[in-house]
Amino acid sequence: MPNTTSTTRSCDGNILGSPLVLGSLRIQSRCVLAPLSGVSDLPFRLINRSLGCELAFAQMINARALMRSNWRTVAMLASSHLDRPLGVQLLGADTEAIVSAVRKLQDFDIDFIDINAACPARKVVKRGEGAYLLTMPRALEDLLRAAVRCSRMPVTVKIRTGWDTSTRNAREIARCARDAGVTAIFIHGRTRAQGYSGDVDYRAIREVKEEVDIPVIASGDGLSPQLIKKMFDETGCDGVAIARGALGNPWIFRRAAQFFSCGTVPPPPAPSEIAHVMRVHLAACSEQYGEEQGPVIFRKHFTWYTKGLPGGKALRQKAFSTRTMEEMARIIQEVCSVS
Ligand SMILES: Cc1cc2nc3c(=O)[nH]c(=O)nc-3n(C[C@H](O)[C@H](O)[C@H](O)COP(=O)(O)O)c2cc1C
Repeated sequence: MPNTTSTTRSCDGNILGSPLVLGSLRIQSRCVLAPLSGVSDLPFRLINRSLGCELAFAQMINARALMRSNWRTVAMLASSHLDRPLGVQLLGADTEAIVSAVRKLQDFDIDFIDINAACPARKVVKRGEGAYLLTMPRALEDLLRAAVRCSRMPVTVKIRTGWDTSTRNAREIARCARDAGVTAIFIHGRTRAQGYSGDVDYRAIREVKEEVDIPVIASGDGLSPQLIKKMFDETGCDGVAIARGALGNPWIFRRAAQFFSCGTVPPPPAPSEIAHVMRVHLAACSEQYGEEQGPVIFRKHFTWYTKGLPGGKALRQKAFSTRTMEEMARIIQEVCSVS
């Protein structure tokens, strides 16, 4: 695991005082890393784990592509023994593809499989996948049942509060998921129509929590320790999945844990600590993708790490024209001197 901190964690961030139970998994931290397509590769996950994240998702996998053993898709499953517990999320609506993908995943070192019924992207819902499944509760139930039947590891589902404001059916969907035998429900507290903006519907999440007796892990605006606590308080959820709040900000896990245990929000990391973690992250990207691709892939993380830093805009402009590890390391060094 990248060594990003010498600070000993004083608490495990468990706001509820007992582990989050997913089948045979016992997760001490109730804050998990949400599925983040295009972002949550192995280096990103390890950085977050080194700062207090315990449960993480690999990048979303297209079930049909995995069925065909597409090499790019298989490469996205790259992991390590330090990268556990790990969930893999499948995108698909076709039972044959989902069952085939679930069967293939049984041979990988992962801990649970999640079925995506939440992705709002136009090209995805046009294929009847992702959030479109929310419009067909029975079909979704059948799909989930088929996945559960052929998996020896827990199967979960990620949903939204509904398709749009006039069809908010998360409670019905949650019942279908529970009846299909899923181990837990991940819910993004927005409708498909809302995408990633607009108010989070805490009430809808609470209703789902009250409806079913399986763990409910919520996401939506988990951007700060205070907002994460608000999600627990307002919904009674069993866990919070952190998404945008972790972009360039792996400290959110440690800071949330400290907030839960001490009641005060620790200060954000100093520029020198940010630069240190950036260096470790860059090195991990280089190890994973090679010296040429590593810095290119790291650019988006550079943007997130430097968001809000004085002089960040000029640094980002430089980073975006950078092609080598040495240049990127030099620009990271400049992060230390911002104040
Ligand atoms: C860049 C990005 C990629 C995402 N990829 C996925 C994904 O692959 N699967 C999924 O279920 N949700 C995905 N999400 C949604 C998040 O997991 C989360 O539910 C959502 O962003 C709400 O949480 P937030 O408001 O704290 O960001 C993604 C979100 C972002 C910002």
